[in-house]
Amino acid sequence: MFEVKRISMIYDMETEEKLYALKGFDLSLPDKGLIGIIGPSGSGKSTLMYCLSTLKKPTDGSILYNGMELTTASDAEREKLRRREFGFVFQKHYLVPYMSAVDNVMVAGIGKEADTEKKAKDILEELGIKEREFSKKPAKLSGGQCQRIAIARAVINDPKVIFADEPTASLDHENAFNVMKILKAYSEDRLVLVVTHDKSILKGSDRVIEMWDGEINMAGGEER
Ligand SMILES: Nc1ncnc2c1ncn2[C@@H]1O[C@H](COP(=O)(O)OP(=O)(O)O)[C@@H](O)[C@H]1O
Ligand SMILES: [Mg+2]
Repeated sequence: MFEVKRISMIYDMETEEKLYALKGFDLSLPDKGLIGIIGPSGSGKSTLMYCLSTLKKPTDGSILYNGMELTTASDAEREKLRRREFGFVFQKHYLVPYMSAVDNVMVAGIGKEADTEKKAKDILEELGIKEREFSKKPAKLSGGQCQRIAIARAVINDPKVIFADEPTASLDHENAFNVMKILKAYSEDRLVLVVTHDKSILKGSDRVIEMWDGEINMAGGEER
């Protein structure tokens, strides 16, 4: 699904000593499965994920997504991909504070409003959010509930890829486990990329990519 060649990233081209956030490696990613990206803070995990998901453009190298070159695609094409084929989950849930749980999911929907509403409710229920919570605003919901609503928002358009950057970092152990269970289930027939500095949440992933100082080191990952 992704074919990455010699990807490199330098944030600040002006400085004399160029600091590489990504140091020119190749990577290929399958159509489905749960892939963990692990490594210490500053090793380039987020940069890699943002380049893959078109939120950032690498300084050099090529990223093919189903045959489409992302590094030279227009802003409109890149935005369309993000909206239709990619879903995003971050450490912070970024829910809109004045919107209800259901509206926070629907706001990302690209289908007809009636269809989107039904779908939003179905997904929320699947993720264990009860009907009585649908009309509540984020401030009245727990951190774990908010993160599940953020996941519902990420999957409302059936994305082919989910990019999750430290999705469990602000959750307690039980909620972190539940969020990973949801992402694991989604990865049965889609690609889910999870960036983390916490190896324990990657049990059951199909592959783990270790990052260190802008480079990668492929490891096996655990069996399903
Ligand atoms: N917006 C930015 N501007 C300049 N440097 C950045 C920026 N974002 C990240 N970096 C640098 O790039 C490197 C990799 O960062 P990042 O991808 O965020 O790592 P990680 O997600 O593994 O913590 C670090 O040295 C970081 O300081
Ligand atoms: Mg990061």
